[in-house]
Formats: sequence, C-alpha cells, structure tokens
Amino acid sequence: MRKILVVDDTEINRELLREVLQGEYLVEAAADGEEGLRRLGDSFDTISALLLDLNMPIMNGFAVLDEMEKRGWIGRIPVLIISGECSPEIESLCLNLGVSDFIHKPYESGVVKNRVHNAIQLFTYKNQLEQQVEEQAAALKKQDQIIQVQARKLRATEPFNRLMMEYTAAMMEVETRLKVLNTEFSINYNRNPFESIKSRLKSSSSIYEKLARRGFPITVESIRENLTDVAGVRVICSFPDDIYRLALLVTMQEGIVLVQEKDYIKNPKPNGYRSLHLILGVPIFLSHEKKQVMVEMQFRTIAMDFWASLEHKLKYKHDIRDSDDIAAKLKACADSIETLDYQMQEIRNQIDRAKDR
Ligand code: GTP
Ligand code: MG
Repeated sequence: MRKILVVDDTEINRELLREVLQGEYLVEAAADGEEGLRRLGDSFDTISALLLDLNMPIMNGFAVLDEMEKRGWIGRIPVLIISGECSPEIESLCLNLGVSDFIHKPYESGVVKNRVHNAIQLFTYKNQLEQQVEEQAAALKKQDQIIQVQARKLRATEPFNRLMMEYTAAMMEVETRLKVLNTEFSINYNRNPFESIKSRLKSSSSIYEKLARRGFPITVESIRENLTDVAGVRVICSFPDDIYRLALLVTMQEGIVLVQEKDYIKNPKPNGYRSLHLILGVPIFLSHEKKQVMVEMQFRTIAMDFWASLEHKLKYKHDIRDSDDIAAKLKACADSIETLDYQMQEIRNQIDRAKDR
C-alpha cells in the first residue's frame, strides 16, 4: 500500500485526513514542519505524497518547502497544500515553490481522495516518462559506442583501407577532369565555370551508421554495392547555366558513366533545397587494373551553397526551438535565391552581349 505523510499542527485535521485516506493508503502524520521533514527523510523512497499545512509552529509549511528544495526533494514527490484560507497570491507562491495542488478546508472526502490520487498518478507517469527517456538516451549512447568500436575495427582492415584509397583516387580523377575543363574554359571565354571544388570522403563511422540504418551488412563488399556517397565532390558555380554545362561535359567524358541524376534545381525539395546531384561511375587506373568507382557529385551556385550550409544546421539539430519559423524563413530565402541566381545570370549575359557588340 502507498504511504502518505500528513503534516499539520491541528490534531483534528490529521485525524480527519487519516479517516478519509486510510483504506487506500497508509497514513503517517507529523504535528509540525520539523517532525515532518524528519519523517520524510527517514522514509523518503516509500512515501508517495506529502500533505502539508502552511501555518504551523516551530517550522511552517514555506520553511518545509524551502528545506525540501535545498535537499533536492521538490519534483521527486507530489506536495499538496492543506490550508484553511489560501489567497491566490499564496497559491501562486506555493506553485512557484513546486507544489502540485491544494486541498481546502473543510475537507470533502471525495475531493481529497481524488486530488491525492491524481497527484500521485501524475507523478508516477512523469517519473515513468523520465525513466524511459533516460533508458532511451542510454541505449542510444550504447549504440553510438558500438558504432564507434565497429568503425574502428573496419578502419583497421586492409580491404577497407584499399576501398577508401579507390574512392580517394576517384575523387582526384573527377577533380582533375573538372580543373582541366575550368582552365580550358578560362582561355576560351575568359571566365571560370566554377568557383571552387570540395571533396570529402565519408567517415568510417558515418559509413557504418548508414549501412546499419538501412539494414545492410557491414562489410567492404556491402559498402561498394550499397553506398553511392562515400566519395563526394561538390562543385560551386557562379551561375545556374554553368552547372548544366559542366555536368553535361563531365558525363560525356570517356570512361564516365552516369548512374543516377537527381535534379533538385528544376525540382527543389519542399524545404527549398536546390542542387544538381549526379552519381557517377568514375574509372581509376591502378597498377594492375582499371576500376569503376562511384562518386556523388553535387553542383550548386554560391547562393545555393550558402543556403544549404545554413539549412544543414537546422536539419541536424532536432531539439531546436522555433524550428517551424526557421524552416519557413529558410524556404522564403530559397525562393529569393532562385530569383537572384537567374537575375545575376541575366546581367552576366547582358554584359557578354554588350562586349560582343
Ligand atoms: P542521404 O541519405 O542524406 O545521402 O540522402 P539520399 O540518399 O536520399 O540522397 P540525396 O541526393 O537526396 O542527398 C544527398 C546529399 O545531398 C545529402 O547527404 C546532403 O549532403 C545533401 N542534401 C540533400 N537534401 C538536402 C537538404 O534538404 N538540405 C541540405 N542542406 N542538404 C541536403
Ligand atoms: Mg549522403
């Protein structure tokens, strides 16, 4: 049976409450704050609720609440104030001190039972939720530790390092081909089709995490077969039409195979994300063989890249406040950027035409 502690200096009140509550609960009683605190401390873990009077000699109810706060007990047990006259100011003060509810005198047995019952239920529920959250956080932490350990193991194997070498070689291959195009372009047209190029190799823990999330085996063959974004090359252009011109030139090159195209410029994602994604099979030439290796290419304008790096912060922070408002503002910016990109392109064309004349 659950235990309730009643702290009230008036004996008749203690007896009345005992009368109402016993049967459903074991009722303990204390005649002043000091005794109440002592009893609470003696059997804190077995007491389900505290019924506390405010006006008492030796130590009043507020002092009890203060002391409970100091000891870290507030929030761990429901406290219900039992009081004759309780002004709204006093009620609000009590609520600020962490009190759950109020029971006004004269007592009506049904109301007392209900309030105590509800307060206990709410606390039990809250504690269960907190425990669940704690357990889930612990499970996630453990899962992350497993991923780190497995990723370290994977990293230590020769076939894995060999595969990563191949991806690195493929990124170098694409980068070189693009840089050649850029140089040729600057001689022919006196401008560069891209501003910058960035390559990144997916980390072993991201590789492991993605395979595990998608239910694929964690092996070197599985990486090769199931992941297309281990090698990533991002090309940042000034103007949208350069993106398509470059993408076409690259995919037409000898040895390069276009495996997949996702055009988020013509079909932006609902959040406003725009980029051209190509999955390419890229040939690499090793000492004894030629191999085809997957590379994920992302083509964006400077403005699209600026947007995506800010939006990325929102995407990977799940507990962010005002995320709806931020998402709406980002979407509006994405729309402005689209207009801006084409306006800039149009101005560039106008300048080019003016030069030709
Ligand atoms: P991932 O599992 O994230 O690789 O996505 P996916 O396999 O569905 O491929 P997709 O072509 O949609 O996205 C590939 C990559 O593009 C992502 O890993 C991101 O780097 C980038 N990307 C895609 N969508 C967004 C987006 O909405 N915002 C931002 N900032 N980047 C995105
Ligand atoms: Mg990816």
